[in-house]
Amino acid sequence: MIVDELRIVGSTQTNVVMSAELIRVAQRAVRQRPANPRKEGLGQLVYPFDRDLAWAAVTYMRTPTRVLWDLYRTRAERLETLYDELCADIRDDKRALWRDGDGISVEVRRVEQFPAGERQVVGTVKNAIVDTMARRGLRLHVDPERPATRWVARQDDRGEIVVSIDLGGGSLSQRGWRRETGEAPLREHLAAVLLMLARFDPRKDVLVDPMCGSGTIPIEAYHLSRATPRQVPALRALGIDYVAEGAKSLEPSPLYPDAAPLLVGCDVDLDVLAAARDNARAARAAEAITWQRADVATLTPQVIADIARERGREPPESGLLLANPPYGERLDERDLVMVYRALAQTCRKFRGWRAGFLVGNPLLEQVFTDVIGRPRIKKPLANANLRAYFYLYEL
Ligand SMILES: C[S@@+](CC[C@H](N)C(=O)[O-])C[C@H]1O[C@@H](n2cnc3c(N)ncnc32)[C@H](O)[C@@H]1O
Repeated sequence: MIVDELRIVGSTQTNVVMSAELIRVAQRAVRQRPANPRKEGLGQLVYPFDRDLAWAAVTYMRTPTRVLWDLYRTRAERLETLYDELCADIRDDKRALWRDGDGISVEVRRVEQFPAGERQVVGTVKNAIVDTMARRGLRLHVDPERPATRWVARQDDRGEIVVSIDLGGGSLSQRGWRRETGEAPLREHLAAVLLMLARFDPRKDVLVDPMCGSGTIPIEAYHLSRATPRQVPALRALGIDYVAEGAKSLEPSPLYPDAAPLLVGCDVDLDVLAAARDNARAARAAEAITWQRADVATLTPQVIADIARERGREPPESGLLLANPPYGERLDERDLVMVYRALAQTCRKFRGWRAGFLVGNPLLEQVFTDVIGRPRIKKPLANANLRAYFYLYEL
């Protein structure tokens, strides 16, 4: 069956955040409020396909891991039927998805329930596309390195195979700036999720990551504030493009170019801070972020007020402390309690601020309940396949 849907894929438990982000960027970028999505599972949103919306999602969204254009759906339970049904759909498809000489790549995900191996499914989808296009006189070839379009086939919760184009050309989590990683870097899209969950407002909030490691949260905060565009040349070839009326350039520009929040990353480890600086340079965010070596126990509002003054700003009255503190793989329980206690006691000094943490160890909540009280939000959120929670405290 031919379908026409835009699928936004992210980590589990991030549907609400992704939907809010798409509303934010679509209204600003293409003057459109998306329809209410269909939710599939806890980390997938499906919208009626719209070229402008797809362009806005791929170009500006930071919380998803992938943006897909779903094109075909089949209940086939055998490779032969899969091939026949796809060939029939592709033959009847009037959409301009291919050009003569294009390279394509095919990947499969979550097809464990299909009674054939992954490679066989890849081969069948690839053959259906290449053979049907050959009958139309278009020669396509497989090019896993630099394909014009990346195809994905996956089985959904009902067991149907859905074939899509991966509009972002692969994982959107990797922004391309990471040079150095520190110990346990946060995936970039999750940093954006945390900022959204903590309702980071760049017009009002100072952002301080007191345990910044390789700097993912402050770097992400900079680009989320500006809504920095991602350049995906393959989109234009698919006719997915948008140039705002009166725009001076065909290239997309940041949606909020004047956003200039005060961003601070602190860590006790000098090597890690050097990595954060390198990453920020690679991410073109170096000028916007202050990196400071500090043990979390020594961090005070005064330290942040001094940084604000050095940058010619008023000392902030409130802001957001946001971090993913160590979980405990490398620290024993006693040391971990000490680190969490120091973090909680530091938070107490930041009266009027908010503090958000992604952490996979329940000790943090116990310590914070003693020192600060209960969190306003506690939400399960996986971090690199580890069970974790996001906590938000009003200080
Ligand atoms: C899980 S990592 C943070 C990863 C970071 N979000 C990133 O994306 O790279 C935890 C960080 O906490 C830092 N840390 C541990 N104890 C600390 C302390 N007492 N004061 C400040 N930073 C500390 C570590 O050096 C490490 O970089």
